[in-house]
Amino acid sequence: MLQIGNIQLPDFPLLLAPMEDVSDPPFRVVCKATGADLVFTEFISSEGLIRDAIRCRRKLDIFDEERPTGIQLFGGDEERLAMAAKIVDVTQPELLDINFGCPVKGIVAQGAGAGVLRDVDLMVRLTEACVKSTNLPVTVKTRLGWDDASKNIEEVAERLQDVGIKALTIHGRTRCQLYKGEADWSLIAKVKNNPRIHIPVFGNGDINSPQKALEYKNRYGVDGIMIGRSVIGYPWLFREIRHYLQTGELLPAPTVVERVDVCKHQLRKSLQWKGAIAGVYSMRGHYLRYLKGLPGVKEFRTQLMTLTEPEAIMAVLDDILLRYEGYTMERTPIEMVNYHENCPL
Ligand SMILES: Cc1cc2nc3c(=O)[nH]c(=O)nc-3n(C[C@H](O)[C@H](O)[C@H](O)COP(=O)(O)O)c2cc1C
Repeated sequence: MLQIGNIQLPDFPLLLAPMEDVSDPPFRVVCKATGADLVFTEFISSEGLIRDAIRCRRKLDIFDEERPTGIQLFGGDEERLAMAAKIVDVTQPELLDINFGCPVKGIVAQGAGAGVLRDVDLMVRLTEACVKSTNLPVTVKTRLGWDDASKNIEEVAERLQDVGIKALTIHGRTRCQLYKGEADWSLIAKVKNNPRIHIPVFGNGDINSPQKALEYKNRYGVDGIMIGRSVIGYPWLFREIRHYLQTGELLPAPTVVERVDVCKHQLRKSLQWKGAIAGVYSMRGHYLRYLKGLPGVKEFRTQLMTLTEPEAIMAVLDDILLRYEGYTMERTPIEMVNYHENCPL
């Protein structure tokens, strides 16, 4: 078992990454059902939360089936971040995570996200303020450093541990790299192997297959891995990795029935969470990703993208089941999409 504060997780837990506009409660429920051991919300602005913006409040919602769940906050002001941490405390997630890794210019300019990597003293003060203001275990997610010339994650890890964080997740890139190049896990391993570090260290960046997960587990010795882009449209990667780590065998690709079931499950949870109209709209980006690889499935695209009645959408999903009954899905490599390609530095 692995412990974060009072949370018990299996050995080598698999974490769903916080992802803006992706890691919402319905998606987290699906990821939990397909094998994620700990899930995170998309990042939430501490300022927005304090001003009680409806969108931010909604981001605090958690379904019981998805737990354990970490709520992620960002902000560059100690008092405001601590105040937001108190608000989060009331909603009872299992833990509170602070984002010191977001590379997006608007966030960095507020002195938040990965911007804080340039000022470790501020990072320590922000973290300490959070730790002191909440009863929840506080964790941090960050990157290797600001740029190639300032990879300060080893110092960051020690100093944040000293002010009380209970786990650290490191994305193996610098802020200036955004998503370019390959994630470098060697510095993550250095943090993990530092005898001063006793908190769990999770590695993050570019895991897209069971084989890579095992290879990185063995090579870098991290306590668990966090996965983001690869599970968008393919949450089954969690169970595939767990199975491979336990048996050394690859599971067959998810069947058409499983894929349609996930579409229905997430649609039902979206309706429950957002209501009939927003629930239907928020699912539109997901269907074709889940059904990717079915020959000719695009024929159903127009219906899935335009129908507004949940029952009618469910009926289309049933038609897909009928059409592809007995069809065997092939396993295809998961591409790493560069979501922040056009993000200005
Ligand atoms: C669409 C998208 C949204 C993201 N939003 C967040 C976020 O809200 N908070 C955060 O810490 N990281 C965010 N990230 C970064 C991921 O959590 C993760 O660190 C990164 O994608 C690298 O992991 P991967 O290679 O497994 O995708 C986001 C990434 C993507 C692709």
